[in-house]
Amino acid sequence: MRLKYRKLSYREMLYTTMEVKVLNNYDELSKKSAVFVAKRLLQKDNLVLGLATGDTPKGLYRELVKIYQTGLLDFSEVTTFNLDEYYPISPENAASFATFMKERFFDHVNIPEDQSHLPDGSAQEVEKECKEYEDLIHSAGGIDLQILGIGTNGHIGYNEPGSKWGSETRLVTLKEENVLEDVPGEPARKLNKALTMGIKSIMQAQEVLLLASGRKKAEIIARTIDGEISREVPASILHLHPSVTIYLDRDAASEL
Ligand code: F6R
Repeated sequence: MRLKYRKLSYREMLYTTMEVKVLNNYDELSKKSAVFVAKRLLQKDNLVLGLATGDTPKGLYRELVKIYQTGLLDFSEVTTFNLDEYYPISPENAASFATFMKERFFDHVNIPEDQSHLPDGSAQEVEKECKEYEDLIHSAGGIDLQILGIGTNGHIGYNEPGSKWGSETRLVTLKEENVLEDVPGEPARKLNKALTMGIKSIMQAQEVLLLASGRKKAEIIARTIDGEISREVPASILHLHPSVTIYLDRDAASEL
């Protein structure tokens, strides 16, 4: 009898590189992702890490700090590049991503201050700042591991739907749901712009770890993982990245 093998479609062949893991809950997702990062650091002292802000990676930073406190990890040769920063905003402002990173991570590990980078939300010359940020990433040898969250509209970094695949660090206008309604310590103003690494900058990382947690991410996760590659879902381009791991909690995976 002849065995019949189903022929893989071109799409299925393309889609074989994403490794998707479903963890029980947010706590487990945080611990597993911290161990993921720790392993990479143990393999390479001068790891270049791409970092994200937002709610999702808070647990990752908390757990990484815990592992650091056990004495297992040394961040002294690590360089970091954050994906994005509001614009314009002072890095000292309580709502800046620079402050988020300091409070949640940088203040608790031994990364020398001059080795952690974010786009400068107070830069006067925006284009120059964006170009220098790209140059800095390249001169560090490129990003080894990029951590990503995902917006409910599929954005990665602040690359909103419609972003060009070839985009690099630039000034973007945020979609309504991501606008900061109030800037602490300043007269009422809305912040609807950000500096963000581009899709191309993200795709140039050697490896990507994308995290998603909660029911509200379930639909976009399903569209990203099971749907077509489309500029309407920026995260879908990750199908064409050679090394992507996606950690989901059960809620985020519930529509897969
Ligand atoms: C933040 C970033 C964004 C967030 C995304 C999800 O640096 O680049 O893409 O990752 O908006 O945010 P949370 O985790 O708050 O749901």
